[in-house]
Order: sequence, then C-alpha cells, then structure tokens
Amino acid sequence: MTVKPQSLALQRQLIQQLADGKLHSGEALAQQAGISRAAIARHIDQLGQLGLDIYAISGQGYRLAQPLQLLDLAQMKRWQHVDAPEIWLQHLTDSTNSQLLKRLQDQQPMQKGQVLVAEAQSAGRGRRGNQWFSPFGSNLYFSMYWQLEQGIQAAMGLSLLVGIVIAELIEQQYQAQVALKWPNDIYADQKKLGGILVELSGQSHAHCDLIIGIGLNILMPVQGKQQISQGFTDLQSQCACAIDRNQLVPMLQQRLISKLQQFEKTGFAPFAEAFNQRNQFAGQQVQLTGGAEPNVGICLGVDEQGGLLLQQANGVRSFYGGELSLRARSV
Ligand code: BTN
Repeated sequence: MTVKPQSLALQRQLIQQLADGKLHSGEALAQQAGISRAAIARHIDQLGQLGLDIYAISGQGYRLAQPLQLLDLAQMKRWQHVDAPEIWLQHLTDSTNSQLLKRLQDQQPMQKGQVLVAEAQSAGRGRRGNQWFSPFGSNLYFSMYWQLEQGIQAAMGLSLLVGIVIAELIEQQYQAQVALKWPNDIYADQKKLGGILVELSGQSHAHCDLIIGIGLNILMPVQGKQQISQGFTDLQSQCACAIDRNQLVPMLQQRLISKLQQFEKTGFAPFAEAFNQRNQFAGQQVQLTGGAEPNVGICLGVDEQGGLLLQQANGVRSFYGGELSLRARSV
C-alpha cells in the first residue's frame, strides 16, 4: 500500500490518540486533526488495512481492540549502552531488510550493529520468497547491519546463532520456553513465534555485508488468523508479563552485537550445544526439502559448522544450504 507523507503524519497522530485503547468520537478526532469526519473514516479504514484492529462503534466513535505501546526512540535510548550503534525507527516501510540493503547498494555508510525497526511493513519478506505479515504496532520488525571478515561461508552458522540469541533473551527476560527449528525459525508451544531472514550483499571474498532480519510476533492482531497460513503464536500468549518493545529492541541489539563479536573469534562450534538443547525436532523423523531430492532421516541437531545432522540408513550426514526446509514427516 502506498501512503502519501501527509497521510502518514496524520495517521501517526490518529494512532497516538487511539493508542490508549479508549473510545474516541469521530468528531473529537476530526477536530484535533483539522479535517472532516468523513476524512477520519477514510484514514481509519487505511489503518485497518495496516493490520490494526480498530472497532468503529456506531454513533460513538472508534477504539482499538487493545491499547498499543508505540515504538519510541527516546525510550529505546534509555536502555541502550552509551556507545551502542544507532537505532532508526520508521512508522511504515516496505521491508526493514530491503531498506538496509538499499543503503548498502547506495554505498551509504552504516555502522556494524546499526538497527532499523518499523511499526509496520507493507512488503515484509520471509524466507523462500514468502510474504511476512507485518501489521502495525503489534510485533517486532527488526533489521541489523553486520559485516563478516570471514566471508560468505561463515553466514550459515551466523543465522543459527541469531536464533539462539533470540531464544536466550526470551527465556531469560520473559520466562517463556522457546524451541529452534533449523535453520531459521523460532518456535514456542509447537507453533511459529518468529523467523530470521539473513541476506548477503556483495560477492567479496575478503568480507561480506549482511542484513539480519528478525520478525517476532508479540501481540498478533485478530487479522493475523486470516492472513497467516501456518500455525503461529505470539510472545504475549507465551508469557504472563507485559512486553515492552522499547526495551526489547535495544536488548536484542546489545545481545546480538556481543554474541556476533564472540562468533567472529570462535566460529559456530561453541554455540552448537545451545541450538541442540532447543531443537524443535530432536529425535523425530524429518524430511528435508528444497534440494535436488528430499532427504529423510532422524533429526540429531546441528554440527559444529551449523549443518543439519540427519541419521540415515547408511550413517549420519550433514546438510547445509540456506533454502532447505524441514518438515515433520508422518509415519
Ligand atoms: C521467515 O520466513 O521465517 C523469516 C521472516 C523474517 C521477517 C523479518 S521482519 C524484519 C525483516 N524485514 C523483512 O522484510 N523480513 C525480515
């Protein structure tokens, strides 16, 4: 969806007014915005298209299904270390990964660890060309720039490491149980909680630029059920505590930076056990698709390079490659 800049500013103002979850009359909203009630109705309709659950109560006004905590740079800064790389915030963007990739292509400077988050994505991207449903204000759409001196071959282990960082953060901060599905899915309660999309730019042998994209369901609006084909869950359903996205973003940035720095020194090997402890399909018969032919075996976890270990009739084999997917096989 394309939204004009002046509409964007107006919508931001409307969302700020509605964020308290209380009922606001169309007349009051129109007065504050200096536009007609019909124009307010049109903007509310557009906000619904951004994935916000807004109830229009006849003769009374509008209210959100639940109060919304908006992302706020000043609040995020309070949780950042003084020397932490900058966090950028966009209200609505096509895709946070695409935005950072574009900066790389345009040779605009970026600092390792620099982050872009958005309240909504109009063209959020998942793995294997899938769309990533990105409703406004409820989830996390996070992309971070990194550069690997070791070159492209190290990126496989890196994306698994990102999953481990997210799992540890959720377990420690929100006391929720998380599992990891090789290579890039975050699971809770047997359902998808989030996903990772690591994209590379440049073919250099000396170093490669990476955009680490993370989508994490925090409080999925009702529309999610119609838009997402596979079983999903959100963090709020998995933990009893309140989730402050303005705290979560800088914490995730900090933990990623620190673990990625460690990874640069040691490679993936010291992290393999952390993945295997959370392996969603441990000991199950699985089918690996996406290669020339499907491979079946018992899922043993990952090896020291991050390859998937399958126990097959003729022994244990490792599988690599970013575009493979793993499905539990019915026997
Ligand atoms: C998956 O398919 O599981 C990966 C989903 C990755 C989604 C995130 S949201 C932030 C970043 N921007 C995108 O367009 N995609 C990633």
